[in-house]
Amino acid sequence: MTVLATFVAVAVGFGSLTSSTPVELRDAVGVSNAKSSLTLIYQNNLNASDDKNHVGAIILDPVPQTNAAAACASLNEKLLSKATIQKYEADFNDALSYQDYAKYQDAERGYYIENGILSVGDQVSYSANSSRSSRKELPVLCTQSANNGSASAGPVNGSTIAVASTGNIFVGYRNQKSFRFLGIPYADTPQRFKYSSLYSKTGQTIQTTSYGAQCAQGGSGSEDCLFLNIQTPYIPKSGSKKQLRPVLFWIHGGGFTGGSGADPLSDGGNLASKEDLVVVSINYRLSTLGFLAIPGTDIKGNFGIADQITALDWVVANIAAFGGDASKITIAGESAGAGSVRTLLGSPKAIGKYAGAIAMSNLGGGVTLGLSGDYGTTYSTYYTIDQSYNVAGPQIFAAAGCNGTDVSAQIACLDQVPASTLVGLSTVARYVVQDGTYVDTPNLILSTRNASTAHIPVIFGNTRNDGASFSTYPKTPISNHTQGLQVALGINSTWAQRIIESNLFPLISTGNLTLDSFNVSQRIATDKTFRCVDQATVYAGVSTHAFQKAFYYQFERTIDGYDPNNLGQPANDDPKNPYFRFHGADMPWLFGTLNRIRDPEDLWSAQLVSSYFAAFVRGGDPNPSLQYLDARGYDKVIEGVRRYGNWGEVDASMKGGNEIRLLDWPSKSAGFVDVEQCTWLGYPLDYYLKGGK
Ligand SMILES: *[C@@H]1O[C@H](CO)[C@@H](O)[C@H](O)[C@H]1NC(C)=O
Ligand SMILES: *[C@@H]1O[C@H](CO)[C@@H](O)[C@H](O)[C@H]1NC(C)=O
Ligand SMILES: *[C@@H]1O[C@H](CO)[C@@H](O)[C@H](O)[C@H]1NC(C)=O
Ligand SMILES: *[C@@H]1O[C@H](CO)[C@@H](O)[C@H](O)[C@H]1NC(C)=O
Ligand SMILES: *[C@@H]1O[C@H](CO)[C@@H](O)[C@H](O)[C@H]1NC(C)=O
Ligand SMILES: *[C@@H]1O[C@H](CO)[C@@H](O)[C@H](O)[C@H]1NC(C)=O
Ligand SMILES: *[C@@H]1O[C@H](CO)[C@@H](O)[C@H](O)[C@H]1NC(C)=O
Ligand SMILES: *[C@@H]1O[C@H](CO)[C@@H](O)[C@H](O)[C@H]1NC(C)=O
Ligand SMILES: *[C@@H]1O[C@H](CO)[C@@H](O)[C@H](O)[C@H]1NC(C)=O
Ligand SMILES: *[C@@H]1O[C@H](CO)[C@@H](O)[C@H](O)[C@H]1NC(C)=O
Repeated sequence: MTVLATFVAVAVGFGSLTSSTPVELRDAVGVSNAKSSLTLIYQNNLNASDDKNHVGAIILDPVPQTNAAAACASLNEKLLSKATIQKYEADFNDALSYQDYAKYQDAERGYYIENGILSVGDQVSYSANSSRSSRKELPVLCTQSANNGSASAGPVNGSTIAVASTGNIFVGYRNQKSFRFLGIPYADTPQRFKYSSLYSKTGQTIQTTSYGAQCAQGGSGSEDCLFLNIQTPYIPKSGSKKQLRPVLFWIHGGGFTGGSGADPLSDGGNLASKEDLVVVSINYRLSTLGFLAIPGTDIKGNFGIADQITALDWVVANIAAFGGDASKITIAGESAGAGSVRTLLGSPKAIGKYAGAIAMSNLGGGVTLGLSGDYGTTYSTYYTIDQSYNVAGPQIFAAAGCNGTDVSAQIACLDQVPASTLVGLSTVARYVVQDGTYVDTPNLILSTRNASTAHIPVIFGNTRNDGASFSTYPKTPISNHTQGLQVALGINSTWAQRIIESNLFPLISTGNLTLDSFNVSQRIATDKTFRCVDQATVYAGVSTHAFQKAFYYQFERTIDGYDPNNLGQPANDDPKNPYFRFHGADMPWLFGTLNRIRDPEDLWSAQLVSSYFAAFVRGGDPNPSLQYLDARGYDKVIEGVRRYGNWGEVDASMKGGNEIRLLDWPSKSAGFVDVEQCTWLGYPLDYYLKGGK
């Protein structure tokens, strides 16, 4: 009642509705959850080509039978029929038994369906109408006719869903897998080189059925780009905070110069339906617009990082209205997104706003190696404003034609340069800096447990060959391994010789010297830029208890990814043949977004691994409970968990020799990888305990 009243006031205030507006239209923009929570169920096996063989349903709050059909009609749907349930009986059995397990609904008491009641005990069963039962209040099962599972499928007739939060109405939609709210403005349109602030308008009806602009990057995007996207399986009744689900907060990668929250590989619809999570993905400012820092001015950098924190603030304030539990937010990201996660783990402005963190293929290293190609260093070791300015500032001013000696005139000049020009210059700023507010330490503090670092559970990890994406494959066949190392790693022959003489990175011949040599180089690149730093991070974090607990993984199976050398996929696209597990090729295993299935193990591993990550988001431990999996009917995951055992915490004593999890089908545990090699490269496991930067 109150909600409805609020809505009317809001709508009238907005000015688009008058007393002569037809009732249907007013209802169409009214909130969809005024009278009931909305739960979208879909039994998702992550096999996209199988989506067409499945349907879901919508569950509404208990009403007497006489009101059940009208409740569905308010969503432009009908009561689910017995015939449909019979056709998809296995799906409904599993989906509804999970509702019971989670204590969302009491399935044994039943649901109103068309002309009867559906009960779910060991099996679904029906009873026809009786005058005795019809006064009982039971939850209602409605059809869900918006049955396209594709992330790019927009709203269809009647599928929009309106939800009110903090004074605005958000009009999203549903598809086969979740409720979707795309392009939500979380901040006011940012001013250039100023920190963002929370979206401040109220009384708005905001269309959130398509993605907002991505942030300015190589030839596209906009400065008005601070949008986020939500996929959720559940919308509580307006004003209720019951049964809220854990939240995955996704920060995209792209080198702090590219990417967006609209990447289909990180679409949250599959995790929402398969794992009952709310997924949020965000945009944040990139490149010079996100990271320029100028000494002695108000332009202190980290605008992109501050945007991420503004988005986090929006989520904390609003996510309950979309079914999410603000006390159970896990921040997660890949590549620069992982670098962002690492930054937020140490940011005084972010700590306390999330409960867990997942950093996938974070970069670092290079400080003590003297090797060139240390592209990754600044992701984990933060420049001062001066250092950041020295590598990018004067170059940007010059390239933008903003020469001069008076810095305020130069900045005024830069303010006039079109965004697309700024991010397209040959030099851009892309570095997290020690700005003193968002980042106030030179690196993440792991050498001690104190308030500088979030004391929470974390997952770090890498793909087996992250470094293959950051090594140069020789353009013409090489004549010896020394030359191969030099080309691939950009080092001189002295260093190449030292690597060979260390005997730590053996060349294994398959008869293709260029490839075999590159294979050695990519191992070194993986170690020095990813593995050594990230393994040392969790090792120190658990040794000092800076982290509450930590888990580490290596992806043994991936698909596609960042392949600038065009080395391609396994022969015949068969993952049993050799291939490099590239950087950025792992997201389908977190999000369940495989775009093709090369062999059954692809699907089974994606089912298992997404369950690991989802279990972590639910409770800070990647091992899903067998009871949960059983209630959901995830037989293949149960088989994986039973056969392949536990993913154990990183234990600083290393007695178990099982510190990391090799993710695949089968998955298995193993000791830290390349420990001796990392020591030789200058990144021993205790690097951060011995004052390493
Ligand atoms: C079952 O009850 C509903 C609601 O009272 C009514 O609309 C419907 O016609 C009934 N069906 C049968 C088969 O009696
Ligand atoms: C689902 O939507 C996508 C994207 O709009 C479209 O390409 C596809 O054909 C649709 N599938 C079906 C079964 O309608
Ligand atoms: C949209 O749905 C409404 C109500 O269900 C129906 O009356 C109308 O004909 C539909 N329009 C189209 C274009 O399908
Ligand atoms: C080789 O590279 C290393 C690291 O950059 C450097 O210290 C060394 O002086 C170089 N040696 C030669 C012979 O150029
Ligand atoms: C600014 O300086 C750069 C580098 O010195 C130079 O190439 C460019 O022509 C100058 N632009 C103007 C507008 O003076
Ligand atoms: C935590 O310890 C580090 C290293 O000793 C120190 O630099 C930092 O200031 C400390 N942080 C707090 C909040 O005490
Ligand atoms: C490797 O090949 C390069 C290029 O042909 C040559 O200059 C160099 O002497 C060779 N090095 C060794 C160790 O054979
Ligand atoms: C060596 O492997 C590379 C990368 O797969 C391939 O392009 C090249 O043709 C191979 N060379 C030979 C001689 O087989
Ligand atoms: C790289 O070398 C390892 C170890 O010898 C081998 O197992 C793998 O298949 C090689 N990768 C490629 C793509 O050739
Ligand atoms: C995926 O679904 C398709 C269509 O139902 C089916 O043919 C295929 O066997 C499934 N793949 C796996 C690995 O289960």
